[in-house]
Amino acid sequence: MKQDITQALVEEHRLILRMLALLERNAARTAKGTYTNYRFYEEAVDFIRSYADRFHHAKEEDVLFEALVTNGMPRENSPVAAMLMEHDRGRAYVRAMEEAARSARAGDTAQNAVIADNAQGYLTMLREHIDKEDTILYPLAERVIPETMRDAIIAGYGAADNRTPANFTETYRLLVERYEAEDVAAAA
Ligand SMILES: [Fe+2]
Ligand SMILES: [Fe+2]
Repeated sequence: MKQDITQALVEEHRLILRMLALLERNAARTAKGTYTNYRFYEEAVDFIRSYADRFHHAKEEDVLFEALVTNGMPRENSPVAAMLMEHDRGRAYVRAMEEAARSARAGDTAQNAVIADNAQGYLTMLREHIDKEDTILYPLAERVIPETMRDAIIAGYGAADNRTPANFTETYRLLVERYEAEDVAAAA
């Protein structure tokens, strides 16, 4: 039995997907003008940048995808190249969402559609991205990466974990839970 090298990433996807569900719910209401807590979008941007991108995507880009390339997957025109392009596309949506949310908080009332469109574009793209990783790329990695490389991969994840501040994952889990609770309160 080989050591597992993808389950930790699948679990990170679960928290990211909960944030995407929040974005979907709130963006639909922002598009209609009924949800104007723009602070949510700024906190979502922080979650995406810190947790999804700097933490989770870095584990993929610097550790797992590198191991796939070492094992013969081409760096260009390959599933790894496609995943990297999608990480980049995500960053563009997030920048646009951040700028619009900031303007909205400063009183610009014409930003709701921009916020909603970029939130929707991001979450649709990232959901499909996560699905491809969970169902295709990670199972492929589990099949092709030999046991001899796995200690180094797990150490690479550990190094990424160690670079985070204390209570990093817990802080972002609480952020997600706080907005999940806000949603329940708003629906009541
Ligand atoms: Fe990814
Ligand atoms: Fe991922």
